[in-house]
Amino acid sequence: MTIRVDIQPSGQAFNLEAGQSILDGALAEGLMLKHSCREGTCGSCKGRVVEGRVEHGETSLEVLSEAERAAGLALFCRATAASDLVIEAPEVTELRGISIQQLAARVAGIDKISDDVAIVRLMLPPGTTFNYYPGQFVQVLLKDGSRRSYSMATRAAEDNHLEWHVRRVPGGVFSTHVFEALKPKAMLRLEGPFGSFFLREGSGPLIFLATGTGFAPIKALLEQLREQGSRRPVYLYWGGRRREDLYRHDELLALEAELPWLRYTPVLSRPTGDCDWQGATGHVQQQVLKDFADLRDFEVYACGSPAMIDSARRALIERLGLAESRFHADAFV
Ligand code: FES
Repeated sequence: MTIRVDIQPSGQAFNLEAGQSILDGALAEGLMLKHSCREGTCGSCKGRVVEGRVEHGETSLEVLSEAERAAGLALFCRATAASDLVIEAPEVTELRGISIQQLAARVAGIDKISDDVAIVRLMLPPGTTFNYYPGQFVQVLLKDGSRRSYSMATRAAEDNHLEWHVRRVPGGVFSTHVFEALKPKAMLRLEGPFGSFFLREGSGPLIFLATGTGFAPIKALLEQLREQGSRRPVYLYWGGRRREDLYRHDELLALEAELPWLRYTPVLSRPTGDCDWQGATGHVQQQVLKDFADLRDFEVYACGSPAMIDSARRALIERLGLAESRFHADAFV
């Protein structure tokens, strides 16, 4: 059975196979709805069903309350259709030159640059065309059927290589494997690209917020702006607990000296005495509150812990007048 989904207010439409999520159906037809985790945990794909019936299955969804369901909201990454639908999606991006694909990639190198961050370089099969928007991620498919998501840290798959920044998560199945067992030449199965964390067109100033390895997609956005010869002012705030967490700090200082439009502010939440830290302390979003009085002309891109993103979203919108539609986030979940 094929189901038709009409999108408001754009007037676009796509078909859905029975059992396919609304998000996957849209992506398969080249229409990207706002999303991040694809697993029902981040809430970024939440939208309104104007007409028709959807099902979310048995699993309880922490980011979609019963009251929201009753009010017609759905998580498009989990909801399947029980009838033709009309949905409301304020932002729909037509994917041009980008197709979601499954591919096998070979590990080209693993560089453990701190006790809990590794730079992993992957080589795609020769002749592969793998386009993505800087800021997007791919998922690695694990043997037990689960997936892990990693953002590409470069603006494009140059020389057919992808770069990931992998943080070791205590008990994390894949990140532990990266640190303890993964070797060059190993093969990984990937699917992607996914995610709506990419630069929107515009000329206004930008604030980039990152914590830890949330820097990876931000690095790709910086490369994109540099490659385009952009003059948009960029205020980059990168937060970590310790100095070691800012694993590209020296490179960013050099980049700031080279690019007149870039201002880099590193922020440590728990600087230890031995690093003699002279810079900002606290959390990245608190530092933005100290540095700016009004963000009405700004666009903000935030990647990192859900706690940082939640707090930044609330603070910058409620206290500095940032428009909600100009806050773009990719949360680690
Ligand atoms: Fe749907 Fe995260 S909850 S994309």
